[in-house]
Amino acid sequence: MVKSLEKLQKEFQKVNPKSFNEWERNKKTLPGGVIKGAYFSSPYPIYISKAEGCKLFDIDDKEYTDFSNHHTAMILGHSHPAVIKAVQEAVNNGLALSAPSILEGKIAHEFIERFPSIEQIRYTNSGTESSITAARMVRAITGKSKIAKFAGNYHGFNDSLEFNLAVSPNSTSNSEFIEPVPAWSGMPQYGEKNIIILPMNDPETVEMIVRENKNELAAIFFDGKPGILDIPIEFTKFLRKLTSELGILFVMDEVISFRSSRTGYQGIADVIPDISIFGKIVGGGMPVGAIGGATKFMNILDNSGPSTGLSQSGTFAGNHVTLAAGLATMQNLTPQVYTHLDQLREKLHNGIVDIFKNYNIPCKVVSKGSIVNTYLTDKPITNFEAASASDKDLWERIMLSLLLKGIYARDGMGFVLSEPMGVKDIDNLLENLTYVINEN
Ligand SMILES: Cc1ncc(COP(=O)(O)O)c(C=O)c1O
Repeated sequence: MVKSLEKLQKEFQKVNPKSFNEWERNKKTLPGGVIKGAYFSSPYPIYISKAEGCKLFDIDDKEYTDFSNHHTAMILGHSHPAVIKAVQEAVNNGLALSAPSILEGKIAHEFIERFPSIEQIRYTNSGTESSITAARMVRAITGKSKIAKFAGNYHGFNDSLEFNLAVSPNSTSNSEFIEPVPAWSGMPQYGEKNIIILPMNDPETVEMIVRENKNELAAIFFDGKPGILDIPIEFTKFLRKLTSELGILFVMDEVISFRSSRTGYQGIADVIPDISIFGKIVGGGMPVGAIGGATKFMNILDNSGPSTGLSQSGTFAGNHVTLAAGLATMQNLTPQVYTHLDQLREKLHNGIVDIFKNYNIPCKVVSKGSIVNTYLTDKPITNFEAASASDKDLWERIMLSLLLKGIYARDGMGFVLSEPMGVKDIDNLLENLTYVINEN
């Protein structure tokens, strides 16, 4: 049942010689052989030469169906004709314009039309930059120094918030005080003094901690993890109610979750956050981040008159090529696209459940919008602790086996769907999953 890791790694090496040579050569000039630290879920990276629709083509002449979706960013798939056309038109006008373009007002309109919480929008280069900016905004707006975030939630490589990313079974449950643990060395030591860690989906403990710290708390940052955790929307509603009552700002991280519906996770949960941060799909494949909210909060970024005390900028923030790609993406995210993705998601969700049931392997599948995650455990995935109890060794072998069958899903985000996929792509994944579970 499922080949051994050793066997799979050997097979991987055999079929990816050009990628292996590239990686070996690049080890001299790039830390770990790669240009960024997010490619390590296979023995070595596969070098891609072309991405089109839901397909990736590598330098060893192999084809993959892309269930990774560039870290969830490419909801319309790769090289979508409308996005490529918009980018080409923008590029034809120059790469950087030294001044605003008319795309700025147009993209703002796309957000304002969708989100009752958003009256104004600001663009950055990444989700991380948006999270850094939002952390400064909430402190500057409230005059308070502390921010609360949930153990397990990631909000980019932000010194203010990159604490307690790793959660193990039972690490935070029912704990009234969760010690802040910086995710990495090199983070400033004083950071611990300004962060409060909350347990996910535990309203009683959250309420106790938040009430106790209300006078110092500027904001709660929250990502509801649709398609990744199975958290009731009541928890989001509870957070909104609590923060409103206590005069604490509520920041929703929609960097990934915006793809779960036309109005993101806030639309699904029917809440109005004070500030939202975005990334990934809002740049249509170009480097991007954005921050949105009501004018009364966003105007702290208004540097057109006397100083507000806070400035946000960036040489390439909101560059017109990113705006063109983001605008074309948002304009082409029609209700039909969401319906299509929803149908594929449901088919994949049910198919995975059936397969593991057939083989008596404990399994919980969580899905929402266009993300499907599988956990090899019988516990409901109502928080990060439950998710971390999944049989990771077996799942790693299954994923590597699938990679060898042309299923690319390498980011630890589960299976991420995109518009060009069809029923045949889902069937193909399910057939391969059945096959690799039986392989020896
Ligand atoms: C929920 C969430 N917030 C923020 C970020 C940071 O975004 P970026 O990678 O664009 O800096 C990520 C990145 O994966 C994310 O998943």
